[in-house]
Amino acid sequence: MNDEAILHIAIAVAHEAGAIVRQAFPQTALTQVDLKGAVNPVTETDKAAEALIIERLREAFPDHRILAEETHGDDWRAWDVPGPPMWLIDPLDGTVNFAHGFPFVGVSLALLAEAKPAVGVVYDPLRDETFAASAGGGTTRNGRRVRVSPVGRLADAFLATGFAYDRRTAVDNNTQRLDHFLRRSQGVRRAGSAAVDLSYVACGRLDGFWEKGLHPWDVAAATLIVQEAGGQVTDFDGGPNYLSGEFFLASNGLIHDEMLRVIREGALAPLPDVLQ
Ligand code: IPD
Ligand code: CA
Ligand code: CA
Repeated sequence: MNDEAILHIAIAVAHEAGAIVRQAFPQTALTQVDLKGAVNPVTETDKAAEALIIERLREAFPDHRILAEETHGDDWRAWDVPGPPMWLIDPLDGTVNFAHGFPFVGVSLALLAEAKPAVGVVYDPLRDETFAASAGGGTTRNGRRVRVSPVGRLADAFLATGFAYDRRTAVDNNTQRLDHFLRRSQGVRRAGSAAVDLSYVACGRLDGFWEKGLHPWDVAAATLIVQEAGGQVTDFDGGPNYLSGEFFLASNGLIHDEMLRVIREGALAPLPDVLQ
């Protein structure tokens, strides 16, 4: 089966899982939420959407491997070991938003072939927006080709970021980078779904995104969606080790070097002209 045919199936599966999320979407904060960590919730909806996705993918691709956020074992760090193609699944990206009735969530599915994304889908079930890409095939939103923004300077750029679940205790909890980017850009949002944030970079609603401490299932689909829309993805050193999600930077490409410089130099990086 070629990538386009696989993408077609992945989109259908993401839509089916998205319907579960949409139907369960709470209008007010859920009271029944389990915690994986102090600020890391999981709901019945995460589990139901993941079970559906796994069942459908196993039916369609019995030879593929599956790494899914809610049911992975301790060996998930071996996501890049050679072997058959692997699906990376985040059944509900934005669980904290979901649990509080904040309408910004996504379903994310990616297929990796030889540890590289070949197919990626991010579906926003509350806006019915489907972001999809296949390697070499471009990125679409609801079936139409999209591209990253033409914004060429960080001073004019609209950015997004996020904060990992260890933020209460981590020495580096990303707040210093936030400070530096706030002073050097037109704005920074923390909307709460990395996969949807990144899809917004792909279609030009945002110009750049960075986060520390993400996981492969958060970024795999959206990485391809950004790249196929003409954007750039690297780690914080400008290198290729971004799919782990540990040090993740994506942009429209034009502001990438400036973003890398802020990450590297922090307070020493240049401020916008107006403030100098
Ligand atoms: C989280 C979201 C959030 C990001 C966190 C992720 P989850 O995923 O993508 O935006 O800041 O680091 O863990 O737990 O809602 O699937
Ligand atoms: Ca996630
Ligand atoms: Ca999730």
